[in-house]
Amino acid sequence: TSRPQLFSPITIKDMTMKNRIAVSPMCQYSCNDGFMNDWHLVHLGAFAKGGAGLIILEATATSPEGRISYGDSGLWKDEQMEPLKRVIDFCKIFGPRMGIQIAHAGRKASTEPPFLGHRKQGIPFDDPKGWKVVGPSEVAWDENSQVPHELSISEIKTVINDFKNTARRALQCGFDFLEIHGAHGYLISSFLSPCSNKRTDEYGGDFNGRIKLLLDIVREVRTVWPSSKPLSVRLSCVEWVKDGWQLNDTVRLAKILENMDVDILDCSSGGNSSNQHIVGGPLYQMPFAQEVKNNTNKLYTMGVGLVNKAHEAESCIAENKCDIVAVGRAFLRDPYWPIHVANDLDCDVDVPLQYAFIDKRMM
Ligand code: FNR
Repeated sequence: TSRPQLFSPITIKDMTMKNRIAVSPMCQYSCNDGFMNDWHLVHLGAFAKGGAGLIILEATATSPEGRISYGDSGLWKDEQMEPLKRVIDFCKIFGPRMGIQIAHAGRKASTEPPFLGHRKQGIPFDDPKGWKVVGPSEVAWDENSQVPHELSISEIKTVINDFKNTARRALQCGFDFLEIHGAHGYLISSFLSPCSNKRTDEYGGDFNGRIKLLLDIVREVRTVWPSSKPLSVRLSCVEWVKDGWQLNDTVRLAKILENMDVDILDCSSGGNSSNQHIVGGPLYQMPFAQEVKNNTNKLYTMGVGLVNKAHEAESCIAENKCDIVAVGRAFLRDPYWPIHVANDLDCDVDVPLQYAFIDKRMM
């Protein structure tokens, strides 16, 4: 019998994944001053034991004000590298590749962690736990959010430089994969959309102006993140509002990114508008990944969103909708998701040595 496509290895640049399953980046809001701790070691270590091919660490802030909440992870200073190295070293024992998503939360920053209230309690800038949020223009995310400070050109240069410095630290930590967070209404995403970007300078206006921040970040990050290592960009492929960023904008941008040595487009959606109308369901974002794949030459795509069942995940790869599936909440419910999915697909996979005395099928 042939091996399921989901469990076939893939090599992108010098990174080989043992299967097509990535843990989607998921904020834990459990850091102090951006430092990871034992929670993250156990949380992420479980996915490594569970057989993931790639583990993408949560949105990691490139500056303190780029955090969503004060509990977010950060890599804006060298001291934050040590706990990340600890996580990488432990996880790698079980064979996954290790990735990190670097981010700036923009106008959606300065909130409580979601389990303490989140968006319903945007923290005012003059509260000791909050700070002034920034964005392309003075357009608030919703009625509970601060009106952002409109970034000046010199402040934009600082943001770009922060992404570059964070990428350099990620390389020093030993990550195999780097993702720039350009989705979900955070800073880069809010620059892309005509709904949130009302600028009239070179970073706003038409399509080329609105994508400039992302392109500048990609270019600078690539000066420190070697071409031999895969670089991914996560985008909200559609904004789920009528006058917002659309799928044809994503395809147009994807064609530019693939010529800038971006290897992977991670195809998510939404998050930039509080008026969005999402039509969800199993694999609901997979058509975006497929559209990008069909219209580009060398980009790999990552598909994400309600990939919960073995045969659904297998169909994404076997039917060439995407090259990697990113899985989020299913991993929170079951860190052994890949092992269980392999069982469902009648496929043999390694389990941690310490558990190998159990019948693999019983795991
Ligand atoms: C997320 N998501 C997310 N996305 C992202 O790009 N960066 C992040 O840091 C986070 N953080 C995060 C935290 C938690 C607790 C959840 C549940 C989700 C979105 C996530 O990566 C994924 O795209 C969605 O959850 C959809 O995939 P699933 O969960 O349907 O497999």
